[in-house]
Amino acid sequence: MIKVWSDGIASGLLDRGRDPLSGRGSVFAYLHDATPHRAVSVTMPVRLQSWDTALGLAPIFEMNLPEGALRERLRLRFAKAAGSFDDFDLLSIVGRSQLGRLRYSGTEDRLDESVPFQSVDEVLYSRGGIELFRSLMDKFATDSGISGVQPKVLIRDEKAYADSDERLSQTFRGATHIVKFWNPDEFPQLAANEYFCLQVARRCGLDLPTYRLAEDGSALVIDRFDLHADGTYCGFEDFCVLNARRTDEKYRGSYETSIMKRFQQFSNSQHVFADMEKLFTLIALNCALRNGDAHLKNFAILYDDVLGEARLAPVYDVITTTAYLPKDGMALTMDGSTHWPTAKKLRAFGEMRIMGAPKKIGQILERIADALSDTADLLRMHARENPAFASVGARMLEEWETGRQQSLGS
Ligand SMILES: Nc1ncnc2c1ncn2[C@@H]1O[C@H](COP(=O)(O)OP(=O)(O)OP(=O)(O)O)[C@@H](O)[C@H]1O
Ligand SMILES: [Mg+2]
Repeated sequence: MIKVWSDGIASGLLDRGRDPLSGRGSVFAYLHDATPHRAVSVTMPVRLQSWDTALGLAPIFEMNLPEGALRERLRLRFAKAAGSFDDFDLLSIVGRSQLGRLRYSGTEDRLDESVPFQSVDEVLYSRGGIELFRSLMDKFATDSGISGVQPKVLIRDEKAYADSDERLSQTFRGATHIVKFWNPDEFPQLAANEYFCLQVARRCGLDLPTYRLAEDGSALVIDRFDLHADGTYCGFEDFCVLNARRTDEKYRGSYETSIMKRFQQFSNSQHVFADMEKLFTLIALNCALRNGDAHLKNFAILYDDVLGEARLAPVYDVITTTAYLPKDGMALTMDGSTHWPTAKKLRAFGEMRIMGAPKKIGQILERIADALSDTADLLRMHARENPAFASVGARMLEEWETGRQQSLGS
């Protein structure tokens, strides 16, 4: 059995399924004294009756489970001792150090989310490459309650916040940054690819956390955006959770319903239309950049109060996937298709879904086109100075040009 904490307070108990026939699901019950503010998700209000899931864990508990390389690393390390290894086992290991406001522990344990110190500067400037990657995976795998297929870890460097306006609490010992690496055989130069795509997003006026590219291009270091200066966390829920989908269903759905309509349903905020405009900008940007990985887990909401207003989370995980997979299409459907939309279709989507005047939608697409041009100059400069990035960089520029012509109409 696992104890579930929300905002540092015990809120309920999670157990494997009771059904002796399948035995594959899970059961979550709130503690009898849990107040409505202890709800683990905007989709799971506090109630007497338990929340039962037929297969695996409820989406909010599954949300931060490692995928890909990190999951495999943990499986190899722990399956030997345990004999078998499922999502419940994985949550018992990484649950104490997670993104968002939920934590998990043994039923008798107290909360301990401390993570060892790791200098961000070392990651950025030591040129440690693959060796540094291996040592960080060894050291931080069990502290890394973070999803995603690409190799990554959560680390703690509270000093890295010293220059920002908001100084982090001295007593804070939890994770502060995400370090993303890449597999050279699969997606070479992925960190630089993401770095420049994020630059475009910033130039479109979207919100982003601080992100930095290691000098040797081996890693991208991103500040957590769900962390307050006093060491408390925001609620964070991705669109798999909002759509009641499992992680392996993250490519199922449409931008119309599973993203735009769902956001409107859960936003509960006076800023809903401003956020929907940002959401449309982000979707259009993904088309222009040819990011075929804009699935349900790559959009999220943030909130301070689970019963209060939710805002669109800052942008993360934006990549030109067609630089590696030329035939890649969209991750979700638009107007029933995963083919990259024409500018006409994208305009119609915007006019319909954010009720934007044609002029306004046109301005958004123009802004994206300008951001692409400005960032393309920086990308070219970086490719000249870093020959290892030159070929991926050149492919990105070609894809951006195609994206601009077909999807922005400029
Ligand atoms: N700056 C951030 N602050 C807090 N949480 C974040 C931040 N960036 C990403 N996340 C969370 O971490 C998860 C993994 O990050 P990301 O999507 O960048 O990894 P990925 O391996 O590239 O994912 P994918 O499997 O989609 O390729 C995201 O789904 C999101 O839940
Ligand atoms: Mg992702």
